[in-house]
Amino acid sequence: MRPNPAPTLLSFAVLFAIAGCMDAVDRPDAARAAQAIGAAAPMTDTELLARGEYMVRMGGCNDCHTPGWNDSAGQLPTQHWLTGSPLGNKGPWGTTYPANLRLKVADMDEATWMSYTANLHTRPLMPDFAVRAMHEEDRRAIYRFIHSLGPAGQPAPAFLPPGQDPSPPYLELVLPPAPPAGH
Ligand code: HEC
Repeated sequence: MRPNPAPTLLSFAVLFAIAGCMDAVDRPDAARAAQAIGAAAPMTDTELLARGEYMVRMGGCNDCHTPGWNDSAGQLPTQHWLTGSPLGNKGPWGTTYPANLRLKVADMDEATWMSYTANLHTRPLMPDFAVRAMHEEDRRAIYRFIHSLGPAGQPAPAFLPPGQDPSPPYLELVLPPAPPAGH
């Protein structure tokens, strides 16, 4: 059956009309942009859970924090998600390991997670800036979802400072020398 294009065109018209009114979207401030595209109404508990699962999946959190995620082509059931990884990320910062977020969240109440993630600062390869730029309700949704999974697994190996050799497995990033000062 040929789909009727009318609703799509109508949706675009509405979106353009809304975008025209949303001055905030044009500003190069990630937090403000996130506010502008965030949920218009507070989410219900059920919606927060579904949103959290979606954010974790689309935010790529499993890529690093879930062992076997990429080998499974993103098909592992949620019970295996975010249990931390023994695959080290070695670079000039030392060697970091994606944390076990199931244990992390089990130890934290929601208010603590909200202030912790609003100011999240970690070492590479964690994209802490992406978490800081999220809409508040998306960070809350991530908490609700991970918390609903319950604690599982072991803590990830401890960070190793620069100059200490990790045991395999690890990824090593060999970076170009820093550019001269002033560039
Ligand atoms: C490219 C790999 C990568 C991706 C993608 C990634 N992380 Fe991480 N994450 C790490 C690593 C490595 C660490 C440990 C950093 C350190 O030791 O400082 C970490 C640490 C963290 C921490 C701090 C844990 C602690 O013990 O304090 C949180 C919270 C976190 N990640 C949440 C997330 C969330 C939520 C997502 C998805 C939006 C995500 N991460 C995506 C690699 C990643």
